[in-house]
Amino acid sequence: MKIKTTAQPITKAPKGYVRLVLDTKGSTRFVEKSGTTELHIVSGAYKDVTPRTFRTLVRTIAQVAKKHEIAKLAVQFSLTPFPQLKKRGDTWVVRTIAENLHLADYTYTAYKSTKEKKPTLEVLLCGDLSKAEAAALKTGEIVAESVNTTRNIANTPGGDMTPALLAKAAKNALRGTKVKVRALDLSQIKKLGMGGLVGVGQGAKDKPRFIILEYFGGKKSDAPIVFVGKGITFDTGGLQVKPGMAMYEMHMDMSGGAAVIGALRAAAKLGLKKNLVGLIPAAENAISDEAIRPGDVLTMMSGKTVDVLHTDAEGRLVLADGLHYAKKYKPGLIVDVATLTGAALVAVGQHAHVIMTKDRKLEDTLRDLGETCGDYVHPLPLWDEFVPYTKGVHGDISNIPSNDSKYGGTINAATFLSHFTEGERWVHIDMAPRMTAVASDKLAKGATGEPVRLLLAIAENL
Ligand code: BES
Ligand code: MN
Ligand code: ZN
Repeated sequence: MKIKTTAQPITKAPKGYVRLVLDTKGSTRFVEKSGTTELHIVSGAYKDVTPRTFRTLVRTIAQVAKKHEIAKLAVQFSLTPFPQLKKRGDTWVVRTIAENLHLADYTYTAYKSTKEKKPTLEVLLCGDLSKAEAAALKTGEIVAESVNTTRNIANTPGGDMTPALLAKAAKNALRGTKVKVRALDLSQIKKLGMGGLVGVGQGAKDKPRFIILEYFGGKKSDAPIVFVGKGITFDTGGLQVKPGMAMYEMHMDMSGGAAVIGALRAAAKLGLKKNLVGLIPAAENAISDEAIRPGDVLTMMSGKTVDVLHTDAEGRLVLADGLHYAKKYKPGLIVDVATLTGAALVAVGQHAHVIMTKDRKLEDTLRDLGETCGDYVHPLPLWDEFVPYTKGVHGDISNIPSNDSKYGGTINAATFLSHFTEGERWVHIDMAPRMTAVASDKLAKGATGEPVRLLLAIAENL
């Protein structure tokens, strides 16, 4: 996909372009008019188009154009008839168009033996763009590129994305930017006392890595935002193995880590004047005679001891060490992002990330940022009533409630993490609901690349 611009109105678009027309009703169709082909797509009544439906509309345009192998599409948006978009402003509209055209254009083809020979779609944005709008277009393209980089990393099969290869993917994605990338190996991880990361990774042939991304674009005195992303390169469940199809797609259990990589890439390419750190505890939760067993007790980097009551509750064990390590940066805010619980899908379905924080203002800000950027979030509570469920049997705390309660799984996981974020300003993002795209997203099957846009919005605004 290539986006070009012209100051000419769509009626004067150069020859050879199919013109886009938005209809309030009818159906998708082509119309031949005085030698020009028009592609008609239905938006519904203009006044009803919301920021949410507009995003889907833009994606539909890209997908329909691709499906019909249109090589050149001329598009012009006048905001006047869209009151709900007008409220968001012109630069928001331009950025949203750029982002979502590229997101809808993406497919994961790394493992296709024959590449499809569809023409790359060229979209011509017609009409005068102000300086700010032209910048917004560029921003949108950088953001979408970064989201798609995250999707490439997350979609890579588990056998080809070990912890060491995830570190390499981070280096590749961030090459040429001002982000410094380091990866600690097993001996360094052990030296730091990261018992959670060591324990989860000990059953696998490919050893854990602790990936550190540093971007200092702000003043020295600015407290950084630290993003901690779950980097489980494959989650078998461990000895308490996942049944049947529950294990399928668990190569994407590093999506939180992949999102952190994408967000730092975007932040650096946009030259944000912020200090940002990304931490990715990376391990494979494998099955072998060396894997952790239920009943094993791990000593975490913080010094706390943890009863492993369930080997499939591994994400919180690696995140605990990442969250503790985060404190050394004296952060202004810690954000962790993880495909942490299937219970999050039970709670909210597949259209929002679950966010959890005790900071009500932060919660409200994230809900607003989610609507603005397209990575929608919905809160669940972090209440003290849940703390007793994390009490340990022999250790200080346990990784699942010792009564094996079926209820509140997402809250229990976050409450476990809260033992490692004491005194910090912290928000937890359980992104399991958004790990894979659903049909209404109008995205290719597989990883969504979320919540890169939200993490970037946090970096831009907090
Ligand atoms: N990676 C999974 C959670 C998950 C499930 C993410 C489905 C995306 C889609 C996580 O490590 C896990 O296995 N969680 C368990 C926790 C349980 C053992 C308390 C779960 O959700 O079943
Ligand atoms: Mn698991
Ligand atoms: Zn997992």
